Amino acid sequence: MTTDSRTRVLTGITTTGTPHLGNYVGAIRPTVQASRNPATQGFYFLADYHALIKCDEPSRIQRSTLEIAASWIACGLEPERVTFYRQSDIPQIPELTWLLTCVTGKGMLNRAHAYKASVDKNHAAGHDPDADVSAGLFMYPVLMGADILMFKAHKVPVGRDQIQHIEMARDMAASFNHLYGEHLVLPEAVIEESVALLPGLDGRKMSKSYDNTIPLFAPPAQMRKLIAGIVTDSRAPGEPKQTEGSALFQIYQAFASAEETADLGAAFAQGIAWGEAKHILFERIDAEIAPMREHYQALINNPAQVEAVLLQGAAKARDLAQPLIQELRHAVGLRALSAASSAQTPQGARTDGQQARAALPAFKQYKENDGQFYFKLVEPQGRVLLQSKGFVSPKDAGRAIGQLQRQGQAAWDNLKQQLDLGPDVIETELLANLDALAAAQDN
Ligand code: TRP
Repeated sequence: MTTDSRTRVLTGITTTGTPHLGNYVGAIRPTVQASRNPATQGFYFLADYHALIKCDEPSRIQRSTLEIAASWIACGLEPERVTFYRQSDIPQIPELTWLLTCVTGKGMLNRAHAYKASVDKNHAAGHDPDADVSAGLFMYPVLMGADILMFKAHKVPVGRDQIQHIEMARDMAASFNHLYGEHLVLPEAVIEESVALLPGLDGRKMSKSYDNTIPLFAPPAQMRKLIAGIVTDSRAPGEPKQTEGSALFQIYQAFASAEETADLGAAFAQGIAWGEAKHILFERIDAEIAPMREHYQALINNPAQVEAVLLQGAAKARDLAQPLIQELRHAVGLRALSAASSAQTPQGARTDGQQARAALPAFKQYKENDGQFYFKLVEPQGRVLLQSKGFVSPKDAGRAIGQLQRQGQAAWDNLKQQLDLGPDVIETELLANLDALAAAQDN
């Protein structure tokens, strides 16, 4: 994946609810557009591990995963063009979470907004600071860091409330790289400046936690009814209305062209009735959503099809995640015991294998005047560790070397008759060297 020069863009949506217009305008629509850019490689996923932090209703998580996946596809995300997957299908993500946990300062997590908000709330209520705070909520930024670093994302489109999490992911990557060498890419948050936060029915940010959302694919009658419920002031028809601070106007703006928006602004000034303005808003949203609704319904009615798409995406994602997690495991010292060990390898330094091999003794093969073939094992400083007796053919000498290189001590036991220890060399010294050679072969 590092040979691909495209910019890697990654984002996820937590699977705790039904996608609403705020998700659509803030996340789904811009990421679908961005995914068509041939200069980028897109990673889009359903953050169902994150859902467990906020939601203990299994059926809701399952339903939400289906709905968000179907929404993404119905809105034009092409699973063949991007990597589209469910977080919990990638076991390398929780594995990376632990590696990152061990390089993340607890103090940094103490300062995470979501955790701090819970603690502050408890304080205000006179409760224990950590009352009802799960370790999952506390660890949320680390899991999110693993999501991002797992795929070496360069850009992470998110809402403003998530910027801190991306900065923490950068910190984790930097700490890891500092300790273990240059393995992880430092990500950057991308905030869509043009996408204003979509207000909800009550004028506050549209969010499932405020229960003020308009479901993206609500049936038209329900959508119309919800729109009729958007808060307005009490100005009567004919009275000029203000666009500023009007939730209705802001939602319209997120769907309409600049020209259409200016027209509605003029209508506000001329005293359009709220009922009429809501009718115009419904028509405008419906014009954009209706063509995708049928596809959405078809997907919802065929969960097996969506499941198959996600499993395919997960296989693609794991093909990238597995080599990286292997590399990281090795970097931190979770290694086969036969692998050569050495100090850490900062960027530009020789790899463990190269370093170990350079310090190891080497076999030297040669022919003597007696017509026989010999070899010796020589340390870099020139000391002879092992001297062979004569072999009739170079092939036989080569075979003996091969066995010593691969099998170490076992080969020494077998070949002892034909080998002599070097002067001043004791057997355990030789054996340690043979084992190191065998380990370097495996590496
Ligand atoms: N925490 C994000 C949210 O609630 C969802 C998310 C999880 C995410 N992992 C991510 C977003 C990684 C971007 C990148 O909106």
